[in-house]
Amino acid sequence: MSLTDFPAGAHPSPSGFPLPKVTMPALSEMKRQGKPISALTAYDYASARLVDEAGIDLLLVGDSLAMVVLGHENTLAVTVDEMLHHTRAVRRAVRRALVVADMPFGSYHGAISDAVASAVRFVKEAGAEAVKIEGPRIELVQALVAAEIPVVGHLGLTPQSVHRMGGYRVQARTADAALQIQADAFALAHAGAGAIVLEGIPREAAAEITAALPIPTIGIGAGPDCDGQILVFYDLVNLTFAPAAKFVRRYADASALFRSAIEHYREDVEHRAFPSDAESYHLPESARRLIQASRDDEDAVVNRDAREELDQKTNRR
Ligand code: KIV
Repeated sequence: MSLTDFPAGAHPSPSGFPLPKVTMPALSEMKRQGKPISALTAYDYASARLVDEAGIDLLLVGDSLAMVVLGHENTLAVTVDEMLHHTRAVRRAVRRALVVADMPFGSYHGAISDAVASAVRFVKEAGAEAVKIEGPRIELVQALVAAEIPVVGHLGLTPQSVHRMGGYRVQARTADAALQIQADAFALAHAGAGAIVLEGIPREAAAEITAALPIPTIGIGAGPDCDGQILVFYDLVNLTFAPAAKFVRRYADASALFRSAIEHYREDVEHRAFPSDAESYHLPESARRLIQASRDDEDAVVNRDAREELDQKTNRR
């Protein structure tokens, strides 16, 4: 068991005032005002609370959880039910950030009505405020927006296309490919997408798209000129057990920190140095005295029985 505690209302800013809730329209306003959008993935209550309390604007329950949390080799295996489970945990933690849920592979690749039904589950059952889908699925975006579900698009290196791409490769390396992504981004914006993640594309291509697009771009491996940036939480804190990609900056070494804490704990248990008396619960003095008194009574009875037995033996002789 562990106890958690929530301060009431939205998290305070460093100046002490509660920060307003981030909404999809607020992201567009940030673009208009030239304010960078900070985004990060999170997959559970604890990490989501840290991300939200740090003032990150957009929190994505990414399907990268398939890899970094569930240990799969790519993102394809994660299911709608697993994504819902994690989105619910994140939702419980977040007060301020916009919570976006990734639609997993297979959940929006068939009939549009099925895809909308899956997206509705993310909003209705898990509390997501928007869904993210990969690729230029224009008709689907229109249908989702018509169903009142805000959409974040995702173009460039789309991890669910790993087999088509032949691995995780930087995309849009030619003029034609860069122009195609730009056209796709425009089509998504016109279909009603509220923002677009640009992943693994050259900085110059991302900068062109960002400058031209009416909605915010959020880059990952797409250079510094996007309207916002997103990273995978586990990359940020070095919990991936793999070398970092070029675009990742590690802001902490949680692997080293956790490893040393766990090893220290094991040593303490092995040397009976944990828990200490101060880390133990104690009986109240009155209960201790009662136990001692009943123990004294028991000893008296045992001593009396032993004496009687001895007397009987002595008399028999
Ligand atoms: O699933 C994920 O983490 C993502 C981000 C990399 C954008 O889609």
